[in-house]
Amino acid sequence: MRPAAAIFDLDGVLADSAVMHYAAWKRLADDLGIAFDEAANEALKGVDRMGSLRLLLALGNRVASQTEMEAMADAKNAHFVEMVGRATPANLLPGAERLLADARAADLMLAVASASRNAPVLLARLGIADRFDFIADAGAVLHPKPAPDIFLACADALGVEPARCLGFEDAAAGIEAIRAAQMFAVGIGDPQALSRAHLIYPSTAAVDLGMVLARSTIAQH
Ligand code: G6P
Ligand code: MG
Repeated sequence: MRPAAAIFDLDGVLADSAVMHYAAWKRLADDLGIAFDEAANEALKGVDRMGSLRLLLALGNRVASQTEMEAMADAKNAHFVEMVGRATPANLLPGAERLLADARAADLMLAVASASRNAPVLLARLGIADRFDFIADAGAVLHPKPAPDIFLACADALGVEPARCLGFEDAAAGIEAIRAAQMFAVGIGDPQALSRAHLIYPSTAAVDLGMVLARSTIAQH
């Protein structure tokens, strides 16, 4: 069946904000004296704020109370919000606008499935908020990625069967979420980290939507 919708993750797929999340976590990790680098950050990608903090604390073998954890998460978010506040359309990843235009030209409905509660502000600063038929509210989703909830919420809002949705993700947790939703998973980034994707491209600019449509139409996912 031909795809009818394209559902995009935001950080690291449409915007270069994955590096902002990393920078914000790195600053918190440095403050806490926890060794943290880009390789360790792979596991945090796509994971919601408290889930990411739990992974970071586990890396440093730290235990913290709920109150301490809330303060840490607030500190990380303050670093991130400061960076998002300075974001402009220049923070769109190369190829992002073309991919959205190609998807629209292919008669696909468009949605954003971001785990970030800052997604609406970032989309507005990037100038692309009005390009989507639906933007999922991360705060309204019960189970975070890798659960399928946020992708299923998009399919539901668009009125499209999950099997006719394409999901685009740069995070392993996101690819799992797309697969759990029974959608066609397009990975953007490292082939090893995203090995569960149906198709993988090294960057957003490298995505060939014509090929994605052809492959997803014949694939049994
Ligand atoms: C996205 C990012 C994650 C981030 C999560 C929550 O999924 O890939 O790195 O932790 O959103 O973002 P938030 O802005 O709500 O802290
Ligand atoms: Mg992402």
